[in-house]
Amino acid sequence: MHSTLPPPEIAFNVALRQYIIAFCIYHTSFIYTIYIILPERVRRLAPRLYRVFSRHHRDHTSASALSAEEASAAVAEMQETASGHQVQFQMVDAITLPKVRNLNSVLFPVRYSGAFYKGLLHPGQFSQLAQYNNISVGTIACRSQPLGFADCSFTTMFDYNSPVPDKFELYMMTLGVLAPYRRLGIGRLFLQNAVEFAFRDQNIVRIVLHVQIDNDDALRFYHKHGFSTLRIVPHYYKNIEPSDAYLLEYRLR
Ligand SMILES: CC(C)(COP(=O)(O)OP(=O)(O)OC[C@H]1O[C@@H](n2cnc3c(N)ncnc32)[C@H](O)[C@@H]1OP(=O)(O)O)[C@@H](O)C(=O)NCCC(=O)NCCS
Repeated sequence: MHSTLPPPEIAFNVALRQYIIAFCIYHTSFIYTIYIILPERVRRLAPRLYRVFSRHHRDHTSASALSAEEASAAVAEMQETASGHQVQFQMVDAITLPKVRNLNSVLFPVRYSGAFYKGLLHPGQFSQLAQYNNISVGTIACRSQPLGFADCSFTTMFDYNSPVPDKFELYMMTLGVLAPYRRLGIGRLFLQNAVEFAFRDQNIVRIVLHVQIDNDDALRFYHKHGFSTLRIVPHYYKNIEPSDAYLLEYRLR
């Protein structure tokens, strides 16, 4: 009897093609499902993963963002607050890092990881320590990231016409001044320095940050300095209450 089976090499090719098509359909629908079903809180991991794996981001931070040394040169060592206090601002380096760690542990309910502190020393970050009468009294830490990371606006992040992100935002991770040294104008100078830093990079279009919804003092401070509230981010914080945050924005250009 005449066999209708195709020759083995053709059968193999057909099977391989079917396998590749099935593989693509499966993975495309899997990724699509993940994006649709994942709740806000889990989606917030995406920017972190992107930062770890993205060559684009590293390109930006090494090539177009300012290095810590450049930023250090951009701010005067001694600055005078509106109330006439002389405060020294310096870029965070390996020597000042333990002071920043101590301050953060007192200032914020959030515990920051070793990776966070290591990250402060990378190029493209803006982190400062303020000293008043040789006492470390406050700190700020910001990082440059593709525009839209803070609000997980994936359409902005992955503009199909532009494979390399060309617009960035400065994300303010921390800003704090020890209670006895508040209302002296130190927070305002930190903000001023961050704005100057961001302005010098043409690609950075805004400064963004999250604030716990019951942090009235900080909200008054930011609104007073031109920040506007974009929206509430439910369950932004993991282990603190209230867990909701406001997303605030300051447009630079
Ligand atoms: C928010 C914070 C950094 C402000 O720092 P600061 O050094 O006290 O701020 P400044 O002295 O520069 O304040 C500048 C202006 O902001 C406004 N402002 C600051 N704190 C305010 C408050 N508690 N209530 C109302 N307005 C306030 C005022 O208009 C003030 O000017 P004035 O003192 O002449 O009226 C500080 O309160 C802080 O460290 N809070 C705890 C940490 C925190 O919540 N950080 C923000 C979340 S990341």
